[in-house]
Amino acid sequence: MPADDESDGAVVLEGAGVVLRCLRPDDLAAHLAGEDDDTVRWLTEGHRSEPERTAAWILENRQQWATGGPRRHLGICVAGSGALIGGVEAHLEPAPPGTDRPLHVNISYAVFPGWRGRGAAARAVELLCAWLPEAFGARVAVLRIAPGNEPSLRVAGACGFTLQRTSREGVLEHERPLDPAHRGVTRAFNGSRSPRGAGRQ
Ligand SMILES: CC(C)(COP(=O)(O)OP(=O)(O)OC[C@H]1O[C@@H](n2cnc3c(N)ncnc32)[C@H](O)[C@@H]1OP(=O)(O)O)[C@@H](O)C(=O)NCCC(=O)NCCS
Repeated sequence: MPADDESDGAVVLEGAGVVLRCLRPDDLAAHLAGEDDDTVRWLTEGHRSEPERTAAWILENRQQWATGGPRRHLGICVAGSGALIGGVEAHLEPAPPGTDRPLHVNISYAVFPGWRGRGAAARAVELLCAWLPEAFGARVAVLRIAPGNEPSLRVAGACGFTLQRTSREGVLEHERPLDPAHRGVTRAFNGSRSPRGAGRQ
């Protein structure tokens, strides 16, 4: 677990051989090197990263944690070596005004090509799903997956998501109820905030 992550309010989640932590400026090169055509096609809607914009995006991620924003990105690292191998993001989706729908969280992810097929994405999603109810009171996790994205559909299946609907754009929307009693994540919070207060909406 990195000791030099100073993002106020950011969380470090650890379990099953992976560590999820906020990206730091010195992750830029690894992040750029880990992007391939599949990431651009399925995750970033055709937008390829370029150094200046990505450096700003990393700082913006840290801001989201510090200010309690809706978009919470975490790098996926190998426990022990600390190598950055991908990223996972929770986007908090509060109930539409006038409804009492519980908080939904859209989760997206990417794993660097050389690390795929080893359960890294599934483990990262599991860790997030274990933490989200306690952290935000979230009750439903959502994965929005394009029909041809077989690896991502396998992650959905491995993590217990079920197909709920197809959006008008043809995106396959999978959901999984989040169990508030679920435990098993080692949590370490940076700064002086209490775990419950960390970025609560
Ligand atoms: C989609 C993507 C993130 C998957 O990453 P990955 O780390 O290769 O995925 P996983 O290895 O966790 O996939 C789950 C598979 O690993 C298996 N697995 C292996 N070890 C596992 C473990 N310890 N825990 C859970 N699952 C494990 C799962 O059962 C599942 O099996 P299957 O592929 O044999 O059916 C990756 O292909 C990628 O980055 N693609 C480009 C970006 C993208 O498409 N993002 C998603 C947009 S919706």
